[in-house]
Amino acid sequence: MTATGDLFTPAHKGLRSMIYDLGGRLQRTDFSDTVASTAVLADLEHEFANAVTSSCLLCLLHGHAGHEETNVFPSMQSIDPAMIRMLIDDHQEITRRLVLLTKMAHEINALEAPDQRVAAGARINREANEFFAFYLGHMNKEEVTIVPAMKEHFTDEQLGAMQGKIIASMPRDRLAGYLRWMLPSLTLAELSGLMAGVKRGMPPEALQFVVGIGAANVDSARWATVRERVGF
Ligand SMILES: [Fe+2]
Repeated sequence: MTATGDLFTPAHKGLRSMIYDLGGRLQRTDFSDTVASTAVLADLEHEFANAVTSSCLLCLLHGHAGHEETNVFPSMQSIDPAMIRMLIDDHQEITRRLVLLTKMAHEINALEAPDQRVAAGARINREANEFFAFYLGHMNKEEVTIVPAMKEHFTDEQLGAMQGKIIASMPRDRLAGYLRWMLPSLTLAELSGLMAGVKRGMPPEALQFVVGIGAANVDSARWATVRERVGF
């Protein structure tokens, strides 16, 4: 029987929300205003040397690809090496574009003349849009390749175990960084299913951790419905 578990799509919904939000902030930023542009530039400056932080959105986008490569791709390597090669090639392209965006953000920070900052802001908007388009296309590609392939080859128990391993491998603040975006991005049915799984399969303090993030980030009427449905 084909499994129903999906390690990618719910997380991808959160990443899409991040991309839409960051794109919106970028295009309304006045780069001649140093104070106003500092926050958005911080989200574009990827510190590859450091652990992924929960506030740097590009760090979360890059970290997600890393989690896939470490925890998910090896399980499919021998089953479909060509597919895994294609997805890893995409990840390398993502990294290349992140290096470029980080360099451009550093360059804007070093500029003082307002007109130069505005021109550089237009350039970084274009580059970020290319990056977002590539990343969005890549997630769609995963959802029609590796997602159905994994449902075919693994049981829901196996997929659940892989998911547990990914969550356990993540520092708490990084996990919080993803959940803050993912929980408000799901349908009511998906969110209820996820919370029921957390309630069933995780210790009470883990449930409290996720409930705290949900209460702070999901629309309050939606969150109340989920609480009632799942019972927590
Ligand atoms: Fe990926």
